[in-house]
Amino acid sequence: MTFRSQSPQTVLGLETSCDETAAAVVRRGEDGTVEVLSSVVASQIAAHAPFGGVVPEIAARAHVESIDAIAAQALADAGVGFTDLTGVAATAGPGLVGGVMVGLSFGKAVALARGLPLVAVNHLEGHAVSARLGAAVDYPFLLLLVSGGHCQLLAVEGVGACRRLGSTIDDAAGEAFDKIAKTLGLPYPGGPALEKLAESGEPTRFELPRMLLGRKDCDFSFSGLKTAAARIAEGLTGDHQRADLAAAVQAAIAAQLAERSDRAMATYAAQHAETGLRFVVAGGVAANRTVRARLQATAEARGFAFTAPPLAYCTDNAAMIALAGAERLAMGLSDPLDAAARPRWPLDEAAASANPTHVPGRKGAKA
Ligand code: KG4
Ligand code: ZN
Repeated sequence: MTFRSQSPQTVLGLETSCDETAAAVVRRGEDGTVEVLSSVVASQIAAHAPFGGVVPEIAARAHVESIDAIAAQALADAGVGFTDLTGVAATAGPGLVGGVMVGLSFGKAVALARGLPLVAVNHLEGHAVSARLGAAVDYPFLLLLVSGGHCQLLAVEGVGACRRLGSTIDDAAGEAFDKIAKTLGLPYPGGPALEKLAESGEPTRFELPRMLLGRKDCDFSFSGLKTAAARIAEGLTGDHQRADLAAAVQAAIAAQLAERSDRAMATYAAQHAETGLRFVVAGGVAANRTVRARLQATAEARGFAFTAPPLAYCTDNAAMIALAGAERLAMGLSDPLDAAARPRWPLDEAAASANPTHVPGRKGAKA
């Protein structure tokens, strides 16, 4: 569907695909400059913590209860009203479908009531553009997307044009952080808690397996690490040892992300000699300082410029959804009001269906 092309965009973004209810207003200038006017994130951590992970029914209900107030707050913080908006962007997947439907339905209602174009945003495309919320990042770039549900390397050629170079064959990196944190007795969400515990640990005290070393593709695997860490965790006696294991796990995950990204950089560099080399890391795990530092060193050694989003835009937020929507509107793209919520929605659909070894699941390709 086509709408106002290349004009400035002021977009309300809505994000409800997991356990954060988020709304934001982002302004994108004609020249592609980006300004975050507001970004509100209401975390549901307290509601899910007693269960040790996200409970989909609780998440959907909490989104319904707060989306109204969160969206109103985002508009108020930005100092804009509905009449100032040029579009509405809502995450339409992939994610927990009950929650996705809440934000998408809210977005459709605003679009219908205010006569605004709707963009049904792929949450992963949101992460893909998130680095542009903090710095001018031009296409193309090589992206490592590392979150709780995804772990992939993608050549991002432009808006909506991604080619997958590698993906996890079992768990996502954030999932590995969360599950190993649980075996260490840490509270949900495990990633940040494990990073904190690792601060006082010695990373070389425990030896952990280096998965997929020597394999010529750019895929990831974390299940062996998870099993090895669980076995070591069983025999631990004191807090010092727990910190050492946390540090070893964090170093092993960072090492694997760096090794596989290094392979992808070699492939990408051969194909993008004329366009400039940039490596971007995005998603919740990009908030981890050890991971960031390791990836930055790897990128710089390969001659790639390195960009990571500001910390607040690594984990789920609506500013990245608003920006993904604004980029599409600027290209003249929008979606019909019957756009569906999609629990599964790979960025590179062709690669996902051609090679479904990457955790296809019961409902088709995941990533
Ligand atoms: O992007 P995100 O907020 O949600 C998804 O789209 O999945 O990522 C959440 C994931 C969780 O697995 C969380 O434990 C992990 O990112 N994470 C971290 C850190 N902060 C968040 N992992 C390691 N270190 C961190 N500091
Ligand atoms: Zn996410």
